[in-house]
Amino acid sequence: MATQRTFSIIKPDATAGNHTGAINSLIEKAGLRIVAQRRVRMTREQAERFYAVHAERPFYEELVSFMISGPVVVQVLEGEDAVARYREVMGATNPDEAAPGTIRKLFARSVGENSVHGSDAPETAAEEIVQFFSEADIVG
Ligand code: CMP
Repeated sequence: MATQRTFSIIKPDATAGNHTGAINSLIEKAGLRIVAQRRVRMTREQAERFYAVHAERPFYEELVSFMISGPVVVQVLEGEDAVARYREVMGATNPDEAAPGTIRKLFARSVGENSVHGSDAPETAAEEIVQFFSEADIVG
């Protein structure tokens, strides 16, 4: 399996709880390298574009409002099989269903305020990364 990149967001519930370092530690312990990272406050336009695939879902407005309610940390993670590996570290979308030791089991409050986002496929990761980083920002 070749080195892969995935896109991660540490969400407003996790930055509010001051869990950025703890989450980064879990990421690194899983063998993933944080090769780009920036703390930002997303604009409504950025959040709407990022989650455009969910625009027809009933929770879309709630999701966008939550994502702009506080600072987030956007990241590029690199490593072997990074997309699947990060999804394992994150745990299930619903924290009630997340495995012990995963980020969402440890920190998430609900399916909406679920602490982290991770890309669902390498192609999605590439599309998500360019929304926040240029190639010069990513230093492996
Ligand atoms: P994420 O991986 O960022 O991608 C889409 C997000 O939609 C997901 O994590 C959840 O935070 C959110 N989401 C999914 N289902 C619901 C729901 N029923 N109510 C609110 N938010 C949801």
